[in-house]
Amino acid sequence: MIRSCTLADFDAILQVINDGASAYKGVIPDDRWHEPYMPADELRHEMASGVVFSGEEVGGSLVGVMGSQPLKDVVLVRHAYVLGPRQRQGTGSRLLEHLISAAPRPVLIGTWAAARWAVRFYEKNGFTVVEGEEKDRILNLYWDIPKRQVETSVVLADERACREIVGTSGDDAEDNFSALILP
Ligand SMILES: CC(C)(COP(=O)(O)OP(=O)(O)OC[C@H]1O[C@@H](n2cnc3c(N)ncnc32)[C@H](O)[C@@H]1OP(=O)(O)O)[C@@H](O)C(=O)NCCC(=O)NCCS
Repeated sequence: MIRSCTLADFDAILQVINDGASAYKGVIPDDRWHEPYMPADELRHEMASGVVFSGEEVGGSLVGVMGSQPLKDVVLVRHAYVLGPRQRQGTGSRLLEHLISAAPRPVLIGTWAAARWAVRFYEKNGFTVVEGEEKDRILNLYWDIPKRQVETSVVLADERACREIVGTSGDDAEDNFSALILP
């Protein structure tokens, strides 16, 4: 069952994120890896900044979570994680479909370039990789991240974002928001 998460799910969300994120260990640059990958304070900050989670529940427990964050003229998909043993069984696709169908705006996702499986997952679900200078422009416009993370991240755009965001100047977007990229 896909459902919206509440504050009561905080510990379960944290557990799913940190379990799923173990896939990054030894894959993303060493200087970007830390344990736990998502400290509780960071998750609290993310939720306070407007990241709203949906989750898939099986047998009364969350097995996957995915956040969405309306930001400027887009919706960012943030923190997509499925428990290790539950990966590749459709949970991520169901959650993504749920968030996209509820999104009133173009959807963008940022993730580690080295997480090739994640890029493939989004491509399979209709997203397109944005590359080169345009990727850097979009990351700098919608995310507040160190230069090093811009270099090691990719952006994926849904069909509407490809039409309305990619290749545009972005002048219409307000600049008073920021989001941490912790995919
Ligand atoms: C990425 C993730 C959220 C996808 O959720 P999921 O439930 O595993 O994905 P689905 O079952 O809906 O889709 C599976 C497809 O995703 C890709 N994929 C997901 N995990 C993969 C893996 N470990 N190796 C290779 N491909 C993988 C494949 O294309 C796969 O299709 P296939 O099984 O037919 O080859 C989940 O695998 C995960 O938590 N991974 C670790 C953390 C992560 O990378 N998060 C993304 C942050 S932006």
